[in-house]
Amino acid sequence: MSIILTGDRPTGKLHIGHYVGALKRRVELQNSGEFDEIYIMIADAQALTDNAEDPAKIRDNVLEVALDNLSVGLDPDQSVLFVQSGVYPLTELCFYYMNLVTVARLQRNPTVKSEIKMRGFEASIPVGFFNYPISQAADITAFDATVVPVGEDQLPMLEQCREIVHKFNETYGETLVMPKALLPENEAAQRLPGTDGKAKMSKSLNNCIYISDDSKTVQQKVMSMFTDPDHLRVEDPGKVEGNTVFTYLDAFSTTAHVEAYWPEYENLEAIKAHYRRGGLGDVKVKRFLINVLEETLEPFRQKRAYWEARLPEVTERLHEATKIATEKAEATVERVRKAMRIDYFADNSFLEEALRRYGK
Ligand code: TRP
Repeated sequence: MSIILTGDRPTGKLHIGHYVGALKRRVELQNSGEFDEIYIMIADAQALTDNAEDPAKIRDNVLEVALDNLSVGLDPDQSVLFVQSGVYPLTELCFYYMNLVTVARLQRNPTVKSEIKMRGFEASIPVGFFNYPISQAADITAFDATVVPVGEDQLPMLEQCREIVHKFNETYGETLVMPKALLPENEAAQRLPGTDGKAKMSKSLNNCIYISDDSKTVQQKVMSMFTDPDHLRVEDPGKVEGNTVFTYLDAFSTTAHVEAYWPEYENLEAIKAHYRRGGLGDVKVKRFLINVLEETLEPFRQKRAYWEARLPEVTERLHEATKIATEKAEATVERVRKAMRIDYFADNSFLEEALRRYGK
């Protein structure tokens, strides 16, 4: 069996960094027809681990994230798009896995480390937040996922999950499926910077282009993007490395885009060469990027409009999918309980063992 599980935290609308780093691949994999089951999780319970005081934010964004996924081509007939907190067996798995991980190991998890810093949690880390790599291992293993398509920042989570699977199977016998991470092939796509050139797109930095942004907003955001600060006059030689506009082109543009919108050049490399030499202005490159992004985002806007006109159906489908996901996770919990020998009432063996011990 080939099974996909992946997901997003609903802490805000998803941006084009999410698209190119995760959602694009997920839809391609869905459409490849190579997978027996596909689960896409809206990780609201994980989002609450560092937003406990703001449940309303998470609640609103559950639907936003669902619409973001549907708008980029996730097909709810092919993929189970569900809400994490509705799948209660995940908490039980997490409870058992917690026994297989040390505090020191969690402290060494690089993603947890950097997130603790980012959130100012150094002095007092919520236990639930500290524990979320274990909870994420429950998410992945509950669905017998073989493949977990994620961005680069999630690699330490996958590593942690694989350790838990290994430890569990070693301790209780072969029970859990060993998952594998799948990263985006395109390197620029793995870590798309914000429009201000900062390392990450983040809502609080106001440097995101959202999947759901309209044309005018995309144009404005691209026009205000950072480029090479030393490229003052058009004639000056320009730097491509670390130039946000070119990083975005690396992530989004294809040779077909060059042919369609800038046929004076053969490909992106030729555009870069001209920019490096000097004589190519930022505005022209930005106009090209706008065309590329528009061609990417316009079909998403249309799909989104389709689903926005059907919110009752979206809600109903989320509900149904959450039930399907729960059934799947329940089956895994049953296997886990049996392996751990805590399935006392599944059959008569518990009593029979007792009778034998008592010589009866
Ligand atoms: N941690 C992921 C993120 O921050 C979301 C997530 C939760 C996830 N559970 C998962 C991703 C399981 C892959 C598999 O985006």
